Amino acid sequence: MKILSIETSCDETGAAVVERDVNGIKVISNTVATSSEIHAKTGGIIPEKAAREQLTYIIPVITKALLASEGIDTSKKTKDKYNLALDILKNKIDAIAVTNGPGLIGSLLVGVETAKTLSFSLNKPLIPVHHLLSHISANFIDNHIEKIEFPLIGLIISGGHTDLLLYTKVNDFLWLGGTRDDAAGEALDKIGRLLKINYPAGREIENRAKKINNSKISFKSPLLGSSSYDFSFSGLKAEVARYVDGKNLNEEDIDEICYATQKAIIQVVVEKTIKAAINHSAKSILIGGGVSANQTLKEKINIEAKNIGVRVYSPKIEYCTDNAAMIGAQSLIDFDPKDWREVRAQPELYFERKNIII
Ligand code: KG4
Ligand code: ZN
Repeated sequence: MKILSIETSCDETGAAVVERDVNGIKVISNTVATSSEIHAKTGGIIPEKAAREQLTYIIPVITKALLASEGIDTSKKTKDKYNLALDILKNKIDAIAVTNGPGLIGSLLVGVETAKTLSFSLNKPLIPVHHLLSHISANFIDNHIEKIEFPLIGLIISGGHTDLLLYTKVNDFLWLGGTRDDAAGEALDKIGRLLKINYPAGREIENRAKKINNSKISFKSPLLGSSSYDFSFSGLKAEVARYVDGKNLNEEDIDEICYATQKAIIQVVVEKTIKAAINHSAKSILIGGGVSANQTLKEKINIEAKNIGVRVYSPKIEYCTDNAAMIGAQSLIDFDPKDWREVRAQPELYFERKNIII
């Protein structure tokens, strides 16, 4: 079964064609356009700007993904490429998957309404996808799913979310906890702004942190050692803001602040993930989301998990930040088509808060 998947929850516009084979989820094509350069100038996302950009990208991005899925060179100005793409969609694609939440309402509407129109007009099944779960399912791409051992802990660590989930089966999970305020990536981006690092700041903060071995500065890891699986990162942002206030920072000072910031985030994230794995006798840990691209985080979590005999999986770098391939992966893991009339953008879609015995 071939799926055309669409992702527009934040500032990326993604389309992919995926299918399931013996090696897990196979990505046939994956296209993404981002408006992050525009947001870099303003130091963060302006939601309406992001959505307006997505309106201009959506059809070309879908077209590119469809053409690429049939091996058609998309760099050339193919005559009639939109007709060709439509033919592929009609004849080669079995279903359409789309992120329906959580995310920015304007951005979500672009993807959801486009997918609904395609589903309605071409009579294709439509699968609404929970964006956060797809960050975990990015690990099923090019991976023998049946070899991944359960129960497992899923760590979603992105620009908008930091959550821990306990999976007993591939599509059966319990939410353990999440951030009470800013997400890890959001904290990195906001601290980056204080340091005049372009949005999104996570990658540059990581690169700057790599230059430092040991810093004189240290920031508090919020909720470190607490009994819950909740996170909180807004206090860290406030602490860094107080630290930089009135200081004339040189490049080395900025590198040190990046190091200390990253250390504080990683420490608490790793501690809680490992604690969840121990308490729930997990055999695997799956991480996902933009911040899971962070090499230092991956190294730390791997070391700690090895000590308790747990295997860690992380997506390939191109499937860490927002992309449509992971949306396709999630739709195949939990294939549940809905009538297009029932599908709507749900910006507040999240997880149920359940009482967990720690
Ligand atoms: O998953 P994502 O693309 O969007 C959301 O769903 O939120 O995550 C974006 C986040 C941004 O906050 C960005 O700064 C962060 O991922 N990020 C990183 C790295 N690459 C991207 N954070 C730390 N280290 C990285 N290498
Ligand atoms: Zn995301």
